Amino acid sequence: MEQGAGTAPAAPRAKRPSPPVERLRQLVGGRWRAGGGRELLSVNPARPKEVVATGRLAQARDLDDAVAAAREAFPGWAATPHHGRAGVLAHVAALLDRRAEWYGEELAREEGKTRAEGVGEVRRAAEVFRYCAGEASRPAGEVFASPRPGEQIQVLHRPVGVVAAVTPFNFPIAIPAWKIAPALGFGNTVVWKPSGLVPLLAQRLAETLVEAGLPRGVLGLLHGDGELGARLAGHPGVDAVTFTGSTAVGRALIASCGTLARPVQTELGGKNAAAVLADADLGLAAAEVVAGAFRSAGQKCTATSRLVVADAVADELIARVVDRAAALRVGDPLEPSTDMGPVVSLQARDELQHAVDAAAARPGAEVLTGGRPYGGPLASGAYLPPTVVELTGDEPLWHDDPLWREELFGPVLVVRRARDDREALRLVNDSAFGLAAAVFTNDLHNVAAAIDTLDVGVLHINSETAGADPHVPFGGAGRSGYGPREQGSAARQFFTTTRTVYVRASTGGAR
Ligand code: UN1
Repeated sequence: MEQGAGTAPAAPRAKRPSPPVERLRQLVGGRWRAGGGRELLSVNPARPKEVVATGRLAQARDLDDAVAAAREAFPGWAATPHHGRAGVLAHVAALLDRRAEWYGEELAREEGKTRAEGVGEVRRAAEVFRYCAGEASRPAGEVFASPRPGEQIQVLHRPVGVVAAVTPFNFPIAIPAWKIAPALGFGNTVVWKPSGLVPLLAQRLAETLVEAGLPRGVLGLLHGDGELGARLAGHPGVDAVTFTGSTAVGRALIASCGTLARPVQTELGGKNAAAVLADADLGLAAAEVVAGAFRSAGQKCTATSRLVVADAVADELIARVVDRAAALRVGDPLEPSTDMGPVVSLQARDELQHAVDAAAARPGAEVLTGGRPYGGPLASGAYLPPTVVELTGDEPLWHDDPLWREELFGPVLVVRRARDDREALRLVNDSAFGLAAAVFTNDLHNVAAAIDTLDVGVLHINSETAGADPHVPFGGAGRSGYGPREQGSAARQFFTTTRTVYVRASTGGAR
């Protein structure tokens, strides 16, 4: 098959007037301020000349002020009855649901995922806020018996204080939601530094929280680069740090938080494998693998970036995956017919293209579809074709191939054939990451083997590797994360600290 030729670019969007350029501001102590740092430009990756929003980066003074305001607001917010805090979160959920189309379209313009995915993400953020509001009616601690008469022991959960949240570009509203909603719900205050690639969506979420009645200072929003993120995480007024992003940046934050003995929660990279075993439903497996690899243009830490297939079904499964990938319509994320939009920036596009070119030049790597940059109308956007590369030959040849080992964060799927089901499961574990895996099989023995042996935080049987429901823990092992899991009941572990209270009736008299 001719590389890149199978993908059918959607027709360029008919001219429609660009929406006005939005102004970006910082939220500090309940007031919006411009910030005096360098210029910040948010552009549409489908048409990088189109500016979505513009403003300035925060400066050191903005950071100090936002942290001071969050410190000052903390005791009052922590003392607000849980149901009062939950009321604000529930209001946010309702507003986000109402604005899902509006914010979802802005998200698609700013980040590049399709409009449908953008709208879905805003609704997902609403769900997260609703779930966290529900914490008010869940058990808030535990009571233990005491070995001493007339006494009981209570274990209470207390907020940790001022939380620094540093978030990535790829889920501009859902990931912030699943950090900010539980942090606020449990009584913490938050200073948030979103990715500089998606500042408008960050501003939308902050505006929504303010409108929902969040008291002054409880949330600060600072636009900035990685350096500001590091300074926020190390700020003396911060009590805990939650981060989602690359393994390299995450490890630097873990190190600096370690020096400060500061709690840190990190969700990092992935190199997630889907294993298709010999008895699998191949139609289902091909559809799920392609969704896992190419939705959001593969820019998810949970994306399927490795496919291992039992030899018995490899020819058929690989052919189906390649056909589906090649048939994806790549184009403007705002076109309803588009299946896959651009990656987040021209820089990301060029780095990915470079990695694919380097891989294709190595012996044993065969590009099955995609792999070459677009010409024509898509050439000026951050577009890449859905790319599938098979690594062939003996294991020593490809074992250390960066395509197999490193997270690329783009629409690139690497394929390996395995001798049998056992070897397929072994290859799933052949990674320093440990976030998600998918196993396609109808055999209960295989399911049991996968549950017992795969070293991942999230395992899917017969569904794609991506996805994270708000009421269950999310996170990974190895290079994929460090610190308590996110979401569900696990969020309480990070966003609260326990206080153990020995309560004795005072009626016993002096001993
Ligand atoms: C999902 O798979 O739907 O950065 C969520 C990421 C993850 C979230 C994935 N923290 O991609």
